[in-house]
Amino acid sequence: MIETIREHILQVENFTAEDKAAVEAFRIKYLGKKGLLNDFFAEFKNVPNEQKKEFGQSINQLKQAALHKVDSLTKTLEHNSEQEGVFGDLTRPGEPIELGARHPISIVKNRIIEIFSRIGFNVSEGPEIEDDWHNFTALNLPEYHPARDMQDTFFVQTDPDVLLRTHTSSVQVRYMENNQPPIRTISPGRVYRNEAISARSHCFFHQVEGLYIDKDVSFADLKQTLQYFTTELFGKSKIRLRPSYFPFTEPSAEVDVYWGLETETDYKMTKGTGWLEIMGCGMVDPNVLKNCGIDSDEYSGFAFGMGIDRIALLLHQISDIRLLSENDLRFLEQFRSVL
Ligand code: PHE
Repeated sequence: MIETIREHILQVENFTAEDKAAVEAFRIKYLGKKGLLNDFFAEFKNVPNEQKKEFGQSINQLKQAALHKVDSLTKTLEHNSEQEGVFGDLTRPGEPIELGARHPISIVKNRIIEIFSRIGFNVSEGPEIEDDWHNFTALNLPEYHPARDMQDTFFVQTDPDVLLRTHTSSVQVRYMENNQPPIRTISPGRVYRNEAISARSHCFFHQVEGLYIDKDVSFADLKQTLQYFTTELFGKSKIRLRPSYFPFTEPSAEVDVYWGLETETDYKMTKGTGWLEIMGCGMVDPNVLKNCGIDSDEYSGFAFGMGIDRIALLLHQISDIRLLSENDLRFLEQFRSVL
């Protein structure tokens, strides 16, 4: 009997299997309920006492060998089939890789940056959480100035005031504090205003503000720069400047671009006037230059600021500003750009 068990141990150790079914058959043969091992265990009581020890040891040995074999064969077969999944059939079609789409805000922002970089403007950025000085006071908006109400502000903390910037003019302040003229910089970024959310306005949106400071910069330079910009971005060169008010510029103006009245959409977009308001601008107030450490007798400059979201809505004929921040792939996948 012990001899038979020894033979089985050898057989078990030499056993190999091509597939899982063979391993399962092997397992049942040895370790199953009606398997050989149970037969041997049942024999145990008939074995003469003096052989019991040796007999017991060999059945245990057989059992361990069978368990080990089943285990190692299963692992090898699983590993092989994984390998096959990865490398097996080299003629299989490749996994499709989805091409990403740029966000319409990024597309418009990158176009604006590209247009201004061609005339020597660099890009500057700053923090979205700002202090009172950079967002208001340095921009000629001292405490209690009524114009602070023009931009409803989210405060993170009061006294000292810490807030979410309401415009990227704060970046221009930081830029002037750290750089002497000539300055030519545009500041793109996200801004926040405590406004009711609707199809036309959101409590956060994006701006590009521009700043040009040098000797003898005049209003004519501003106008020419804006005209260049609208021609490049919209393909429209007819603009008009309407007098306006900003605390940080004097004189100040709103810029309208003549869109035309050719189609029904033109009528809708321009409310029948043909004109579209696209940005605010003006000559930087000498007080602002002084606040930022620039000699206002020697230097002058202009600034302008526009909302990227509104321009994206215009250019892509999008009807609701909220679509820009809802992350709906059906919307986002419609935009493609090389920029
Ligand atoms: N900062 C202004 C705004 O956010 C825009 C602006 C910038 C106007 C520069 C004039 C000059 O509304």
